[in-house]
Amino acid sequence: MTDPQEERVDIVQAFVDEFGRDPHVIGRGPGRIDLIGGHTDYNDGFVFPIALERHVAMAAAPRDDRTLRVYSLNFDGRTEMPLDALEKAPDALWMDYISGVAHFLQQRDVELCGMDAVVWGNVPVAAGLSSSAAIEVATAITFQGLTGFEMDPVDMALLCQRAENEFVGMNCGIMDQFIAILGRKGHALLIDCRSLEYELVPIPADGHKFVICDTRVPRELVDSEYNTRRAQCEEAVRLLQQRLPEIKALRDVTVADLEAHGSLLPEQVRKRARHVVTENQRVLDTVGALKRGDLAGVGHLLTESHASHKCDYEVTVPALDIISETAVDVDGALGARMAGAGFGGCAIALVREEAIPAFREELIRRYRRDIGHDPELYVCEAEDGARVERL
Ligand code: GLA
Repeated sequence: MTDPQEERVDIVQAFVDEFGRDPHVIGRGPGRIDLIGGHTDYNDGFVFPIALERHVAMAAAPRDDRTLRVYSLNFDGRTEMPLDALEKAPDALWMDYISGVAHFLQQRDVELCGMDAVVWGNVPVAAGLSSSAAIEVATAITFQGLTGFEMDPVDMALLCQRAENEFVGMNCGIMDQFIAILGRKGHALLIDCRSLEYELVPIPADGHKFVICDTRVPRELVDSEYNTRRAQCEEAVRLLQQRLPEIKALRDVTVADLEAHGSLLPEQVRKRARHVVTENQRVLDTVGALKRGDLAGVGHLLTESHASHKCDYEVTVPALDIISETAVDVDGALGARMAGAGFGGCAIALVREEAIPAFREELIRRYRRDIGHDPELYVCEAEDGARVERL
């Protein structure tokens, strides 16, 4: 179901089959990929993601009582939850994202109604494209479509992040929910994760494409390693504050600061800090290069970003490293880096359009030799953020 018309018919039909009536709205929340800016969001830094065509769709209609009844097409699972006693579902993790958003909407005094809903998505789960933010923002926008409450889009992103942090229990930053709401077709979004100011930057259409390379390696350890990295970044700030009392986050630290005071930090913590500090600068440099149309410069920054994730932040795996190496070796490929949290999932490559088949072929050759299965590649276009359709 990638054809939008076909998807609409199918999800509406599934709703009619399940609930014996018509849905009133379909809310959609997209997946995302970060072009650059890895592990900078929770350090008050900069990120530069795009919203994807792949998304989670929720067809819904209000109920007279205060029950949420949800059918997940992907998991072929049904769950009910009372709006007045929302808690984690014992055997349906996907429902927790929905309940979490409903919980925090109510906590902000938004008057919700009970709802019947069918959920379907084509953002691969655990592939680093943030299917979790996609379902959160699809939920928020669907409730908005049903009840008409007003909310600033940045506040809505913060609320969805809170649902993930405090209800689901994953300590993510703000990037995924922010881009899933505020993304725009044909644009990447520079987000300042401290001030929450943002700027849409057009992606030049000049014969180059961003290509998503899914390692199809399931992400492992990602939650525990993610939390360890966050703790190491906080430790770096605490130690550096001895000499730099004005800093509040690694966002405030420069490369020169690290050179001058890096000896205060244990080796591993110093490497983590160096990744974040240099990655923040690479985000700003990438935005500059993209605005100038310097795609070779963008490709080079992607390659540098990957190396920093590999050597300093240590969140890559061989299946991700091969993609970055191949993008250096194949003519017409300009660069590639791991995206998302790492430990598997996807990478993003910048490739001249005519060179995509050669890049794909070489990548498959190396994967068959070293990994034992094929990666999945698809050209990605930047799409609009969350939207709701009234039926
Ligand atoms: C995950 C988190 C994001 C961000 C990335 C790494 O996707 O959800 O908030 O921290 O990892 O950049």
